[in-house]
Formats: sequence, structure tokens, C-alpha cells
Amino acid sequence: MKRLLITGGSGFIGSHTCVVLLKQGYELYVLDSHCNSHPKVIDRVVKITGDEESSTINKVFLIEGDLRDQNLLNKLFSDSIYQGKPIEGVIHFAGLKSVQESTANPLLYWDSNVNGSINLLRSMDQFDCRTIVFSSSATIYGASKKSFLPETSPINPLNPYGQTKLAVEKLLRDVFKSSPNKWRISNLRYFNPIGAHSSGEIGEDPLGIPNNLFPFITQVAAGRREKLTIFGKDWPTLDGTCIRDYIHVMDLAEGHLLALECLLAEEPQLMNLNLGTGLGTSVLELVNTFQSVNNLEMPYEFASRRKGDVPQIIADNSMALSRLHWNPSRNLEDMCRDGWKWQTLNPKGYL
Ligand code: NAD
Ligand code: UFG
Repeated sequence: MKRLLITGGSGFIGSHTCVVLLKQGYELYVLDSHCNSHPKVIDRVVKITGDEESSTINKVFLIEGDLRDQNLLNKLFSDSIYQGKPIEGVIHFAGLKSVQESTANPLLYWDSNVNGSINLLRSMDQFDCRTIVFSSSATIYGASKKSFLPETSPINPLNPYGQTKLAVEKLLRDVFKSSPNKWRISNLRYFNPIGAHSSGEIGEDPLGIPNNLFPFITQVAAGRREKLTIFGKDWPTLDGTCIRDYIHVMDLAEGHLLALECLLAEEPQLMNLNLGTGLGTSVLELVNTFQSVNNLEMPYEFASRRKGDVPQIIADNSMALSRLHWNPSRNLEDMCRDGWKWQTLNPKGYL
């Protein structure tokens, strides 16, 4: 079976994608520095995917290291060729993702996200591996009057994190243009991934106080945080709270498998695809669904709007649906149930 390199495969989205890829029979090299994850994650991935007959333990190799280490990257590619099993594609999740931290420390973000990606592409080119799926983000889109954002929406990231995502997309476009008959590239622009694998074995495990809504909700419900603060109740939406396009992380993971297989099957190309459900949910709707599905109550209060937020972001996902034959089928209830199962089974994350 094909061997792939998964950068950042111990992280939230990467680990769920490893599950999907292993179930499909791929062999994986996972490269992760563990600056924002725990190596134990891969044991859990093996636990979910292995069965008594066909253990996946021999199909996933974890390498602890940083993308900015060019020698390490070269060694991974050259060792694979030497073993007669070259790396045939890369899914590139590794990167730093906190908007606040990127504003405080832009040098760190440009170095890790952009220089790390340059190193990766350099090694890929050198060792003739030119298929890559990149974790981009809806955060690169600027203000738009449209209710649903297509891939052609105006691009204007508002913070250094978003700038680094856009910079890598631009880099990939230039690399593609330099040899359009060789490169196969997919930029996947994620909307708001939440939830967890239905087993409760893997999930989102943020370091410190969560910045994002969903892990904050699960930690308040678990009693780890006192209450949720909802930023703004005067937005121009039906209930006054912001609307986002929440997508189950397993649907997102399946989108990666389909994007990779589409690239491997078709002619060289570059595609930009939105991965979202196309459905909007307000903060209050998410809180209420979480409470009712899990039969609990959680304290929350309203505060003023958070700087940089916009009232509504929903994907026009028609391109991904038709190009990939992708079917994001898990609903908000599934996201809330699975995310809560992960939290209750792992009150302190992977520790
Ligand atoms: P995550 O932090 O859980 O996973 C990223 C992984 O990359 C971590 O395991 C981290 O240790 C590793 N890593 C970071 N820098 C590295 C480096 N220089 N070398 C090697 N490993 C490194 O994040 P996630 O939520 O799984 O996100 C995965 C990707 O998707 C990121 O690139 C992120 O920017 C992007 N993305 C995430 C979201 C989201 O809401 N989670 C939305 C849009 C885009
Ligand atoms: N929110 C709260 N309270 C909180 C946290 C968030 O009310 O404690 C609100 C926010 O104001 C926003 C909504 O919940 O209205 C969602 O906020 P998140 O921080 O969970 O998500 P964002 O849409 O702001 O951004 C996320 C990631 C970005 C990514 C983007 C993709 O943080 O990195 O989704 O659209 F790029």
C-alpha cells in the first residue's frame, strides 16, 4: 500500500485523518514536534484502527522532529526510497494556529508555518514527491457581502496567523506554476472543525485556556472552567450571537482522504477547496444543542464583542462536494455528543 508523510499528524485534525487513512490501508510516516500535542495520540490511533487480525501497529511510524530541520526531512524521503517504498504524497497539517499568539509573536509564526513549509517543499521536490494536501483556513477570506463564501471570495487575512496561511497558498501556487505538469496540490480551507472520534479515544486537547468556542464549552461543562463568556449579543443575526460553519472533525478527515485520492488519480493540478458543511449555527444554538444532547446545563454570560470577529462565516462547499464526491454527514448533535464523550473519558486530555 502507498506510503504517505503526515506532518502534524499527532494534532487534532491530523490524528483523526490518520485514523481514516490507516483504515483505508495507507502506511504513514507521522512527523510532529509535539509542540502542541502528545505522542500518546498515535497509540490511541493504533488502538482505534487495529484489530486482532490486522494490527496497524506496523503501518504507522512516529518521528518526533521539526519541519524546520531540513536534514531530518531529507532523511525521511531518502530512507523511504532506499527501502523501496517512496513517500507518494504528503498531508501537511503541521503549523501553529493561535490567532492571539501570532499577533504577539509573528516571527515565530512566519518561521514555523512558512519556513517549515518551504523546507518541506524543497525536500519533496528533491526526492520527486510532488503531491501535497495543505491545511489552509477560512481565516484567509476578507469581508464579503455574500452569505456563503465560495473559493473565489475576496482574500484578506486580518492577523499574522492568517497571513502565514495565505503566504503558503501563494508559495504553493508559484511552485505549481514553475512545473504545472508535475505538481498535484490541494489547499483545503477549513471552516470550524469540532467534535471528536466517536470512540472517545482521540479529540481536541488544547494547551492552557482554550481560545476557541467548542473546547471552552466542553471544559465548562466538565467543571474545569467556571463559565462560558459569549462575545456579543448584538450582532446582526437572528439571536444576536455570531454564526459559524461547524464541521465534525471526522467529516473533515474524510475530506483529506478524498482530496489526496483525487490528486493521485487525476492529472497534475492545483485546487482550492472549502471544507465546511454549508450550514450556519449561532453561538447560542451550539450551546443549547450541547446542553440538550448531553442532558446537562452549563453557566454562561454575555460580554462585549471580541475584536476581529465577524457576524457570519459559512462555506459555499459546492466545489468540494462535486469535485471530491464528499458527503459531510455528521450533524451538530453528533459533534456535541462525540466532543463531550472525548471530554468525559479524558478529563485532562492525553495526560
Ligand atoms: P494542532 O495544533 O492540534 O496540530 C498541529 C500539529 O503540528 C501539532 O501536533 C503540533 O505539535 C505540530 N507542529 C506545529 N509546528 C510544527 C513544526 N514546525 N514541525 C513539526 N510539527 C509541528 O492543530 P489542528 O487543529 O489539528 O490544525 C491542523 C492544521 O490545520 C494547522 O495547520 C492549522 O493551522 C490548520 N487549521 C486548523 C483549524 C482549526 O480550527 N483547528 C482551522 C483552520 C486551519
Ligand atoms: N466565542 C465565544 N466565547 C469563547 C470563544 C469564542 O463567544 O470563549 C465565539 C466567538 O466570538 C465566535 C465564535 O464563538 O463568534 C467562534 O469562535 P472560535 O474562536 O471558536 O472560532 P473562529 O471562527 O473565531 O475562528 C476559528 C479558528 C481560526 C480559523 C477559523 C476558520 O480559531 O483559526 O475558525 O473559520 F481560521
